Amino acid sequence: MENNNLSELYNTLLEASKEAMKRAYVPYSNFQVGAALLDKDGNIHYGCNVENAAYGPTNCAERTALFRAIADGKEARTFKAIAVMGDTDGPITPCGVCRQVLVELCELDMPVIMGNLKGDWEITTVGDLLPGAFTPSSLHKEEQA
Ligand code: THU
Repeated sequence: MENNNLSELYNTLLEASKEAMKRAYVPYSNFQVGAALLDKDGNIHYGCNVENAAYGPTNCAERTALFRAIADGKEARTFKAIAVMGDTDGPITPCGVCRQVLVELCELDMPVIMGNLKGDWEITTVGDLLPGAFTPSSLHKEEQA
């Protein structure tokens, strides 16, 4: 689908994620990913993937944006939307680890805008990306009488 049917705000967020993509540190995969996280004050937090020679410590773009925002003092579960961008055939989709982190730090109904460089996009929500997720509330057992 083309971007002309996307709301201006989400289009701005996708453009920001495209900018963020250019900052990716990807000497191993050479696969750049960008993310742009919108906070409740209208600020956009950039994220890119940051790889490592040991592979495992690699941080995806989505988690970079989320962790940066938290480190900058933004409160968990107050974010408004996140856009993700990659050079994929269809709109890029977040990996399983990022889905779990999104569930932790965002409301389940928060929009996730997934795009690619061709201008394809799709919108889903955090909850729809990880049905049946183990959430923060899963840790709280029902109070015993
Ligand atoms: N990657 C992301 O940053 N986000 C995604 O949604 C998918 C995968 C990164 C991890 C790694 O640096 C590269 O893309 C190839 O998997």
